[in-house]
Amino acid sequence: MNMQTKHTADATTVEEGLAIAEAQDAQYNDEMATETAMANTLLTPRFYTTDFDELDAIDVTPVREEWDKLIAQMESDPNKGHFKKNEDWDHVDWDNMEPALKKEFIDFLISSCTAEFSGCVLYKEMKRRGNNKDITQLFQLMARDEARHAGFINDALREAGLRVNLGFLTQKKKYTYFRPKFIYYATYLSEKIGYARYITIFRHLEAHPEHRFHPIFKWFQEWCNDEFSHGEAFALLMKTDPKLTSGRNVWWIKFFLTAVYSTMYVRDHQRPAFHEALGVDPDWYAHEVFTKTSELSKQIFPITVDIDHPKWQANLEKMQKANADLALAKQQTGPMAFLKRMGASARAATAFASLYFIPAKQHKVPAVTRMEPVY
Ligand SMILES: [Fe+2]
Ligand SMILES: [Fe+2]
Repeated sequence: MNMQTKHTADATTVEEGLAIAEAQDAQYNDEMATETAMANTLLTPRFYTTDFDELDAIDVTPVREEWDKLIAQMESDPNKGHFKKNEDWDHVDWDNMEPALKKEFIDFLISSCTAEFSGCVLYKEMKRRGNNKDITQLFQLMARDEARHAGFINDALREAGLRVNLGFLTQKKKYTYFRPKFIYYATYLSEKIGYARYITIFRHLEAHPEHRFHPIFKWFQEWCNDEFSHGEAFALLMKTDPKLTSGRNVWWIKFFLTAVYSTMYVRDHQRPAFHEALGVDPDWYAHEVFTKTSELSKQIFPITVDIDHPKWQANLEKMQKANADLALAKQQTGPMAFLKRMGASARAATAFASLYFIPAKQHKVPAVTRMEPVY
């Protein structure tokens, strides 16, 4: 097969997609983009590894009916060939883009590409190590999608003279170990919040096309439908074992809900020019995305965090301010800078604890898990 002419969007397996990406890496590499993608902080996307044998042992019999429908839908591959530039891809004037916007948008693309690829690497590894046909089939399908998503973002970056070297990341980026149940909570939420983020931007730009400053946003609807399906799969995996969503684990669920929401809030507020160009108020956007994600997560989680509690927004703002101060102090040296760093970290931790201890809202989880993307 000639990798030079084939596109990641047309790859039907993750192996094929990665081989195409590797051939592109060899032609074109960019150290800045790859270095940014290598960063490991609380706010940047990480790579994960887990106990693959435990995951492989899941028996999906209790959710068989819903499972088979979901897999059939993913097998039918409605988005094959979708994630590549076509006549809808407008010319992007990178040279004349306002510098603050350009910097933040590139940061957005690199971090999105890293997040997509993080999913790809984890899912592909599960598929490679497993023997359980249901599990390996699902993870092959999800890895296929994430490879296409990452490849497409790299297409957009290449126009700006950048590229994230995916092969290099696979080998060199640090992997964080998470027990399988933490992978379920974290990955389920990141897929569903990914759906909510993309569809909210897509609908906003449908109503205000004058704010669509880059063509990639036109692809967000099909994109978020992929993420929606991935989230459905994790909901069904959790459904096979009621212990995962009851008892002490509910405290873990609350922890992940709080962590995923507050990280998104802090990260988005680091990109004011990006949100201004989109015509989106980041506070409105956050609340909108939290509302949608909470509605969706009721399919499997017995609680949602109380995002309308008066302490919620106040502590998000405190946490965001503490993180901004921390970033500033990190650029300074000397004993005063050290004290400032300690102070800012302590304030961020206190704000997080305050968010975590806001009483949660309880829900009855429905008997049937599956949902459709309706936003
Ligand atoms: Fe994705
Ligand atoms: Fe996904």
